[in-house]
Amino acid sequence: MDNELGPCWRDVEDVLDAGVDRLLLYGPPGTGKTYAALAVGTGAPAERIVCTEDLTGAEVTGTWMPGEGGRFAWREGPAIRAWRADGGRGGRLVLDEVDRAAGDALATLLAVTDSSASARWRHPESLEWVSPGPDYSVVATSNAEDVEDLPASLLDRFAVRVRIDRPHPAAVAALAPDLRGPALAGSLGPSSRRVSLRRFYAFARLRERLGAERAAAIVFGAAAPDVLDALAIAALA
Ligand SMILES: Nc1ncnc2c1ncn2[C@@H]1O[C@H](COP(=O)(O)OP(=O)(O)O)[C@@H](O)[C@H]1O
Ligand SMILES: [Mg+2]
Repeated sequence: MDNELGPCWRDVEDVLDAGVDRLLLYGPPGTGKTYAALAVGTGAPAERIVCTEDLTGAEVTGTWMPGEGGRFAWREGPAIRAWRADGGRGGRLVLDEVDRAAGDALATLLAVTDSSASARWRHPESLEWVSPGPDYSVVATSNAEDVEDLPASLLDRFAVRVRIDRPHPAAVAALAPDLRGPALAGSLGPSSRRVSLRRFYAFARLRERLGAERAAAIVFGAAAPDVLDALAIAALA
C-alpha cells in the first residue's frame, strides 16, 4: 500500500507547520477533512462547532445558564474556550461544514475568525475584554466541491484554502487490506459515482456478521455488484 501523502494532504501539513492559523479544507465528504482539522498541528484538544442552518451565535461565544440559587451565569462557548485554551496560549477551533452557518451565527463566526489582532469579545458578565491567545487557530471544513460556492464574507477570513480531493492515506490504511484499493478508487471517481470511505468502514463492520454479499447489498445498494467485483479482483492481485 502506497503510504505517501497526496499533494493536498502535504499542503495541509506544510501550511499548518508554517504557522498558517486560518485554513479552509473543502471537497468531497469522507476524505478526512474533519479528522485532520481536529488533529493536525495542534497539541491541546480542539473545540469543535458543527455548523447547521440552526446554529446560533450563543453556540459560538456562549450563553446565560442558570446556576446555583437560580442565579444566571455566563457559560463561554467553544470559540472563546479556544481563544483561552492552554492557559491563555489559545488552541484550535474547528468549524465543521462552515458554509451551512447563516444569519446571526455566521456574523458571530466572522467575528471570532477575524485576524487575531482585531478580534475582541466582551464577557457579558465580567465585562472583561478577551482576545485570542497567540496559538489560536481555526480550521474550517466544507463539503462544497467548489470554493466559489462559499459565502464571500467567509472566504475573506480564510485566505488559505486547500481542496481535498483524495482520502487521507491513514484513513484508507485503517481498512482491511482487500478494501483499500476499491475504497481509494471509489473515493476518487466523478462525484455522481463517488463512494465515501465511511461506506467502506460500514461494509467492513457488517460483512463480519452478514457476509460480503449481504453487507454489500445493504451498504452499496445498486453498486454492490461493482464493489464485489472490485473486491474479487483485488483478492486475485
Ligand atoms: N488520518 C486518519 N486516520 C484514521 N482514520 C481517519 C483519518 N482521517 C479520516 N479518518 C476516518 O475516515 C472517516 C471520514 O473522515 P472525516 O474526517 O469525517 O471526513 P470528512 O470530514 O472529509 O467528511 C471517519 O470515520 C474518520 O474517522
Ligand atoms: Mg467532515
